Amino acid sequence: MQKKALLVTGKAKSVYATDDDDRLVIHFRNDTSAFDGEKKEQLDRKGMVNNKFNAFIMQKLATAGIPTHFIDLLSDDEVLVKRMDMIPVECVVRNISAGSICRRLGVEEGLELNPPTFEFFLKNDTLHDPMINDYHIRAFGWASDEEVATMKALTFKVNDILKALFAEAGMLLVDYKLEFGRFHGEVTLGDEFSPDGCRLWDAQSRKKLDKDRFRQGLGGVVEAYEEVAQRLGIDLV
Ligand code: TMP
Ligand code: ASP
Repeated sequence: MQKKALLVTGKAKSVYATDDDDRLVIHFRNDTSAFDGEKKEQLDRKGMVNNKFNAFIMQKLATAGIPTHFIDLLSDDEVLVKRMDMIPVECVVRNISAGSICRRLGVEEGLELNPPTFEFFLKNDTLHDPMINDYHIRAFGWASDEEVATMKALTFKVNDILKALFAEAGMLLVDYKLEFGRFHGEVTLGDEFSPDGCRLWDAQSRKKLDKDRFRQGLGGVVEAYEEVAQRLGIDLV
């Protein structure tokens, strides 16, 4: 599949058209950002690690019945995906308190959340991704009630699948963010699943193995991502 015009340059990925209207190429770059793009760095190997990590997870999810945009790995840092009409909201499920829920609600990090929580955020860096609810999504026409219900159901189904997958490899899935789009009308998982968009802790030591290492200046960012990949049996070479 030939990469053609550059369509979008995001904070960590670039999106290209192809000669097929239904297909796009996503290039995973080494750029790493946090705090809505305020902190930025280039981290060697990160594009490759996240591309392969995402491909592995998307294939696991597809096998378990989640519709995803993944089609094929094209190279170390490029993937072929379905071209979707993206829904501009982020779906976040939390199993353990960390990050913004601690700041917003004044709770300590590391509390088990039972049941896991679900939150919608508007995808808008300028506004710092404000939290929204189902009513905002309907009132502004970002998605229908049926699509909202489907996004919630799929996001929780992903939780069951991935909590088990990471647990088998000695890790806790603390929280994660998913983005969906429509492919020929079907609500389909898009964007990426990688340690850039979730929190993963070692189950015993609770060592952080995700982008919090970058946000908090803990160092060893890509090394931690590689450790997660290796524990899952993902081939990075
Ligand atoms: P938060 O604690 O900052 O709200 O983030 C919850 C989870 O969602 C965390 O794993 C990071 C991920 N996330 C993103 O990857 N991008 C975003 O823009 C947001 C709001 C969250
Ligand atoms: N992905 C967002 C950013 O790069 C938020 C974050 O991960 O902290 O700014």
